[in-house]
Amino acid sequence: MKLNGNTIFITGGGSGIGRALAEALHQRGNKVVIGGRRRAQLDEVITANPGMEAVEIDMTDPVSIDRVAQHLIATYPALNVLINNAGGMLPDDAAGRIDDALLLSTVTTNFIGPVRLSSALVEHLKSRDDAVIAYTSSVLAFVPLALTAVYSATKAAVHSYVLSQRFMLRDHNVRVLEIAPPWVRTDLMNSREAEQAMPLDAFISETLAVLGSDADEVLVDGAKLFRANPGAGEHDLVNGFNAQMVPVLSQR
Ligand SMILES: NC(=O)c1ccc[n+]([C@@H]2O[C@H](COP(=O)([O-])OP(=O)(O)OC[C@H]3O[C@@H](n4cnc5c(N)ncnc54)[C@H](OP(=O)(O)O)[C@@H]3O)[C@@H](O)[C@H]2O)c1
Repeated sequence: MKLNGNTIFITGGGSGIGRALAEALHQRGNKVVIGGRRRAQLDEVITANPGMEAVEIDMTDPVSIDRVAQHLIATYPALNVLINNAGGMLPDDAAGRIDDALLLSTVTTNFIGPVRLSSALVEHLKSRDDAVIAYTSSVLAFVPLALTAVYSATKAAVHSYVLSQRFMLRDHNVRVLEIAPPWVRTDLMNSREAEQAMPLDAFISETLAVLGSDADEVLVDGAKLFRANPGAGEHDLVNGFNAQMVPVLSQR
């Protein structure tokens, strides 16, 4: 996608990857509007970045999503880029009983919400030049982390939806991109200090370089091994990955 001159709405822009991406795009001459639930986080980011704007949105609430979509179209008619980045990740136990509240909130936040938001904005985006719908999925879309089985499944669902939506929009001048980060140092799963995780600034600069290319999948180098899921031979990759990661994460 082009990296300047856009009007961008990015969810989860109050922290982590969303905030860093919002700031990088703001600095490159885009009009950036961030969304999230926590007003204080949003205010902190827009105060630090004059010209950036914010709206409160709850990705689990269809009424909130529709209200924000209508507000965006009315207030920012130039809106041409949606980045569905908000997400939540909690550990679960697929060998036991999955907490129903965790199940519903994870699926709603990570999958249903982004589908609802892109549905609410897609007709508007079809009318714009250089339109983009991007989703932050995860390398766990390709290789699940067994300690976060529900989360991993939501990201696989996002990946699948991206493939379908990209095909269906192929003649509409709306590009559908997937940003699939590896483990990055953010508040997600308290990973800010995790040494094995990628530093946020390195992730953002590598991501922007790919985002500015023709690639539909935005993968930093550290994500490519996961993407190279070997089809029917995936069990070795999945089991090897989890044999390595589960002991590390269980100690945290
Ligand atoms: N960090 C990683 O290792 C990693 C790896 C792969 C993929 N990802 C993905 O990257 C995205 C950003 O995560 P992050 O690492 O930057 O973690 P983060 O700092 O915790 O960001 C998550 C953001 O999502 C927002 N959010 C959560 N639930 C929401 C809801 N119901 N409605 C609206 N906004 C909501 C949060 O804002 P509020 O709480 O204010 O609503 C927060 O700003 C997520 O989709 C995550 O799955 C992260």
